Amino acid sequence: MHEKIVELQTLREALEKDISKADSPDSIEEVRVRYIGRKGSIADLFKQIGRVEPQIRGEFGKTLNSLKQFATAEIERKVKDLEQQETVAGVDPTLPPRPVAQGSYHPITLIEREVKRIFSRMGFAVMRGPEVEDVWHNFDALNTPEWHPSRDASDTLYLADVPDMLLRTETSPVQIRTMQAQKPPIRIVAPGRVFRNDKPDATHSPMFTQVEGLYVDKGVTFSDLKGTVLQFYRHLLGKNVVTRFRPHFFPFTEPSAEVDVSCPFCGGNGCRVCKQSGWIEVGGSGMVDPNVLETVGIDPEVYTGWAFGLGVERMTMLLYGVDDIRLFYENDIRFLQQFGGRR
Ligand code: DAH
Repeated sequence: MHEKIVELQTLREALEKDISKADSPDSIEEVRVRYIGRKGSIADLFKQIGRVEPQIRGEFGKTLNSLKQFATAEIERKVKDLEQQETVAGVDPTLPPRPVAQGSYHPITLIEREVKRIFSRMGFAVMRGPEVEDVWHNFDALNTPEWHPSRDASDTLYLADVPDMLLRTETSPVQIRTMQAQKPPIRIVAPGRVFRNDKPDATHSPMFTQVEGLYVDKGVTFSDLKGTVLQFYRHLLGKNVVTRFRPHFFPFTEPSAEVDVSCPFCGGNGCRVCKQSGWIEVGGSGMVDPNVLETVGIDPEVYTGWAFGLGVERMTMLLYGVDDIRLFYENDIRFLQQFGGRR
């Protein structure tokens, strides 16, 4: 073979080696310039065609042309390869790490935890019950008569396909489940979601959160209830708040009372938060009805107990100054971010 043709073959081999060695956009660009650039070695050879001996000039020209095509195609392919690798790896190891977005607890979770913490320091265990409940635990066992308006489908969300099942309307059925499973002394709080057929507005939501409390033992009195509830609200809202028990009716307690706390913002003098009344309604309470104890097989002649319920959203709105309950469920990160780790 003529030496001029051999020279082209040698160049082709060198080119292949250089292309395969190139491992970055810069190095393949350098190869491109060196071989097929305007002043590259292939351009150089084209200039020599006129000086090649006539017998092999044709073959030399043809081989050189195909070398140029080969070089162009192979370099182009390698450029694409390297670009793709770059995005697959996608990593420049010299850059500092991206900051990891840190989440924060939902404000409802924060207050729920606070409530649990206060009660666990007073010796209360935390219990949970199902959100899909049966009519017996939610109403019958809680001494709620057949005709009670809260049983109506206009108030309570019943399951469409399963008879006698509903979304619990309160955390009180956890009292029943606990007393069925344990013998006194019983001291529990039961946080959780409850559901009602309510149209949402600034203060109502078809789903919200309650905490139920229950204390059953020998000799438990109404003054234990008052003392415990007072201590709890002083821990949660401030050591100067006082409580007020207003007579009320609940099917599962007798006597029953609604609990108010003195407004922690104005000290009871009257302000915008307490609507000038000096008091804020925070929940229900009472002595566990003897019928309820009997239903779960606890002798009301031997044991007495008290129970209470409170709304977590209510407390959270009060403590953080939130004026619309719907904000808790919209998952707007700009709202939720404001509570991170504050409690
Ligand atoms: N379950 C009641 C409600 O949702 C709140 C309540 C009142 C709970 C009195 C109690 C209680 O345990 O004793 O309105």
